[in-house]
Amino acid sequence: MPTSQATTPSHNQLDTKAQAWSALFSEPMSDLVKRYTSSVFFDKRLWQADIAGSLAHAEMLAAQGIISADDHASIQRGMAQISAEIESGAFEWKLDLEDVHLNIEARLTQLVGDAGKRLHTGRSRNDQVATDVRLWLRGEIDLIGDLLKELQVALVDVAAQNVEVILPGFTHLQVAQPVSFGHHMLAYVEMFQRDAERMADVRRRTNVLPLGSAALAGTTYPLDRERVAKTLGMEGVCQNSLDAVSDRDFAIEFTAAASLCMVHVSRLSEELIIWMSQNFGFIKISDRFTTGSSIMPQKKNPDVPELARGKTGRVVGHLMGLITLMKGQPLAYNKDNQEDKEPLFDTVDTLKDTLRIFAEMVGGQPNPATGNKEGGITVNATAMEQAALKGYATATDLADYLVKKGLPFRDAHETVAHAVKAATTHACDLSELPLAVLQGFHPQIEKDVYECLSLRGSLNARNTLGGTAPAQVRAQIARHQARLAA
Ligand code: ARG
Repeated sequence: MPTSQATTPSHNQLDTKAQAWSALFSEPMSDLVKRYTSSVFFDKRLWQADIAGSLAHAEMLAAQGIISADDHASIQRGMAQISAEIESGAFEWKLDLEDVHLNIEARLTQLVGDAGKRLHTGRSRNDQVATDVRLWLRGEIDLIGDLLKELQVALVDVAAQNVEVILPGFTHLQVAQPVSFGHHMLAYVEMFQRDAERMADVRRRTNVLPLGSAALAGTTYPLDRERVAKTLGMEGVCQNSLDAVSDRDFAIEFTAAASLCMVHVSRLSEELIIWMSQNFGFIKISDRFTTGSSIMPQKKNPDVPELARGKTGRVVGHLMGLITLMKGQPLAYNKDNQEDKEPLFDTVDTLKDTLRIFAEMVGGQPNPATGNKEGGITVNATAMEQAALKGYATATDLADYLVKKGLPFRDAHETVAHAVKAATTHACDLSELPLAVLQGFHPQIEKDVYECLSLRGSLNARNTLGGTAPAQVRAQIARHQARLAA
């Protein structure tokens, strides 16, 4: 019957993977299969969560009398040393030990002997890994929340400096109506605030404890799962062991929230790219976010926004990957789930880097001497306003003017269409048509019409909640500032 190393396990140590589970295996894994199945070189970044989970588990095992106080103390001592080793880079990660869990457990056993081998009582790697990923993601969600706040603060700052700056508002990328540039910035604040709320919501469902579900069916030991959840700061305990070890819906919904957030960044990127092109010239971003061309000496390319737009595709791809990973899996745990990590890790890294860089690119960096932020986007108010004067941005205002004189809106709309046609023929703005000409379109047009045909008049007139009138924009800025300072 079985010969070889599998029948002669070394005593205190899991040296090779074949020995990690037993005498049952009659041959060692090939190198290719080891490489194919191992995850340690990416899941080692879960080490802090893994140790935190193990310590909480060990504390509970001791409190329940399942392991001795001495064993618990040994586990604590061993884990402290392992943490120090990992932090200093001295820890030797072994491919043969497959993943972060087996690597740490093997080292623990090497350090503290049998106590290390008792740690796995009442648990499995299936509930262990689900716990680790949740703990790790919880911490990352909190960091992402902070970054989303920083980005919102940067956008609100730019808005506050540009309430009175007039931008041509577009629909279909055609000049539509004038808007405050501050108002435009605040649109993105709303998007990123919803992203932050989505993240907070995902956090609630992520912060629930699978540990104690063991492999799939629960365990025969008298575990106190609530105690472990409390130790780990988790809001509850997964109530079904099969579900606990197998579903990764929290990772999928996180990636969905991250994808939406990247889509918002991507839309902002697209606008920044358009605004800084020579044909618009509305803004500049600091040189450090641009690159030159190897052939065209005059070029300054908006590489950062372009890359962010590109990386959005990458994150959305991870969402597709994760959701597809789940779809064919029967209950409970399957090794497929090991494939959750790289897309999840890359989503977190990409989103964090992107938010960090955008907060700085939009809002600038504090100058250590003055404390003032410098190097954010520079706005060319004149270019924006000139552009808003093209394309009859106040045509709706003229229609509204006629409605206020008693015309039905549809008739006013038609009358203004004639006026726009005339202005086009004369190659001038509506506000440049003489009063007599305007009165030719409708006798009730009077001198005060020029107030509503001006960009500023148009802006001021949109003084309803959520509108672009500077008074409304200032009120929104105050609301956001109070909210973000809280
Ligand atoms: N590395 C594995 C993962 O990431 C850990 C769980 C393995 N469980 C198992 N029964 N093979 O999913």
